[in-house]
Amino acid sequence: MSPNTLESIKSYYNARAPGYDTETNFHPHQASDYLHWISPKPGMHILDLACGTGAITLPLKRAVGPTGRVVGADISDVSLEIARSKAEDEGLDIEWVECDISTIYAVPGIEEGSFDVVSCAAALVLLKDPGMAVREWARLLKPGGLLITGVLTGDTMVRGIVLDRVAEEEVMGLLRSAGLDGGESFLTESYAEPKYLDVEKAGEMFDALFEEAPVPRTWYADLVVPSRREKSKEIFEREMKKLAGPDGKLVEYVRFHMAIGRKV
Ligand SMILES: C[S@@+](CC[C@H](N)C(=O)[O-])C[C@H]1O[C@@H](n2cnc3c(N)ncnc32)[C@H](O)[C@@H]1O
Repeated sequence: MSPNTLESIKSYYNARAPGYDTETNFHPHQASDYLHWISPKPGMHILDLACGTGAITLPLKRAVGPTGRVVGADISDVSLEIARSKAEDEGLDIEWVECDISTIYAVPGIEEGSFDVVSCAAALVLLKDPGMAVREWARLLKPGGLLITGVLTGDTMVRGIVLDRVAEEEVMGLLRSAGLDGGESFLTESYAEPKYLDVEKAGEMFDALFEEAPVPRTWYADLVVPSRREKSKEIFEREMKKLAGPDGKLVEYVRFHMAIGRKV
C-alpha cells in the first residue's frame, strides 16, 4: 500500500468511523481541550478541519448558536455521515464538506478572511504538505482570527522518533511561515498512561512496527526499504539503548506540541 495516499486515509478512517466515538483513547479528552482553547462565542464563524465524527464540531455549533457558522470538513464520508446524523438529531445547522482539507480553499463558500477560528485536531501529521496546508488555512482567517492545531510529540512513540521532524518548533514554524504571529506554543499533558518500554526488546519492537495499522506504518516508510531493513534494525537498537536511562527503560507518552497563531 502506498503511504498516506488520500484513498488509504479515507478507507482507514471510513472503517474506523462506526466505532470512533466509543474507542477508548485520548480523542474525547483532546476534543474538550480544543473547545477550551477555541472558546467559541455566539456568532463566531469556525472551520473545523478533519472533523471526523464531529467531536469538536457539534459542541462548537452549540456554542456559536444560530447567528454563528460552523463548517466541518473531512475526507471520510462515513465519518461525515455519522457527524451529520448526530447534528440533525440535535437540530444543529452545521455545514459538512467532504474534501481534502489541504485544498479546502477551493470549496465554494469557503472564503478568504471569513473565519474567526480554524482548527485541525489530530490530523496535521497525516497531510502530505502540512506547510502548504497551514499557509492556505491562514488565508481563511479574519484579522485577529486563530488557527489551532498540533502534532504529537516525539515521545508519544519513542519508536517513531521520525515524528520529531514535525514537532515543537516546526509546528510553530509552520504557523509563522503562514504569516501568523508567534503566539503561543506549549506541551499538553499526556492523554494516556505512560507506557514503559524495555530496550532489551528493541529488536522485537522494531519488527512489530511493521505490523501496525496502515496509517501509523507509513510514518516509518523510510525504514521499509528492504535492502536497509537489517541495517535500520541495528541502528534502532543502538539508538533505543542511547535514549534509555541507566535502568534500561524508556517512557512513551501521548502528548501534543500545540501551536496557536494569530492573524495580524
Ligand atoms: C484522528 S482523526 C481526528 C478526528 C477529529 N478531529 C477528532 O479529534 O475526533 C483524523 C481525521 O483526519 C481526517 N483526515 C486525514 N487526512 C485528511 C485530509 N487530507 N483531508 C480531510 N480529512 C483528512 C480523517 O478522515 C480523520 O477523520
